[in-house]
Amino acid sequence: MVKIAPSILAADFARLGAEIDSVREGGADWLHFDVMDGLFVPNLSFGFPILEAVRKHTDLFLDVHLMIRAPLRYVRRFCECGADLVTVHAEADTEDGIRSALREIRSAGKKAGLALKPGTEWDAALPFIEDVDLILVMTVEPGFGGQSFMANMLPKLGLLRETLDEFGLDCILEVDGGVNPLTASLAAASGAQVLVAGSDVFHAADRKRSIALLRGARQDADQEGDGALPPEET
Ligand code: DX5
Ligand code: ZN
Repeated sequence: MVKIAPSILAADFARLGAEIDSVREGGADWLHFDVMDGLFVPNLSFGFPILEAVRKHTDLFLDVHLMIRAPLRYVRRFCECGADLVTVHAEADTEDGIRSALREIRSAGKKAGLALKPGTEWDAALPFIEDVDLILVMTVEPGFGGQSFMANMLPKLGLLRETLDEFGLDCILEVDGGVNPLTASLAAASGAQVLVAGSDVFHAADRKRSIALLRGARQDADQEGDGALPPEET
């Protein structure tokens, strides 16, 4: 079954603790934490103090997605602030710089991920394949929530799935951007195991229902009353 990782980028920051509790109770597997530096992407988000506070608040697995240049400078600190997994972008530094960042994350005892922007070919991950626990395929241009899923990323996902299976590599495939119940099923069919969803989960009044739908519960079946979906909260 796919894992669902709600992205707090779309949460109400004034009530962040309650927002996190609502997705945890709604069945979220991981919590996705989007860090932006205003250089690698044209936007800023949040960093260490918020991660520390989130870590103190929840035992959910914290999936930290660094959209920052030269991430080697900061990966250890993100590990110390409570990340369980830290993902860096293949485009964010030289090959040596990225490899060093991935190794630094693992040497801190955390899982290391590599993200690919939509314009980056699937095989850009190959030089790092021994150093990663997860590959993140971006299905929007990184920087903003609420964009539309790029279905032309599905073949990239499929090629990565085939390659990982062929080499018997225990590396997770994750998808991020524009995930809703329809695109979730496309991504899962192409081999994604973890689906990041910001708007779809946090803009829904009923988080449990949204997460169940992303996981593949069928709305049509539920209307027949077979319990595929949790009852709608009132
Ligand atoms: C985009 C971020 C995503 C974003 C997804 O740069 O990496 O994690 O929050 O948001 P939605 O699900 O709204 O596309
Ligand atoms: Zn993200």
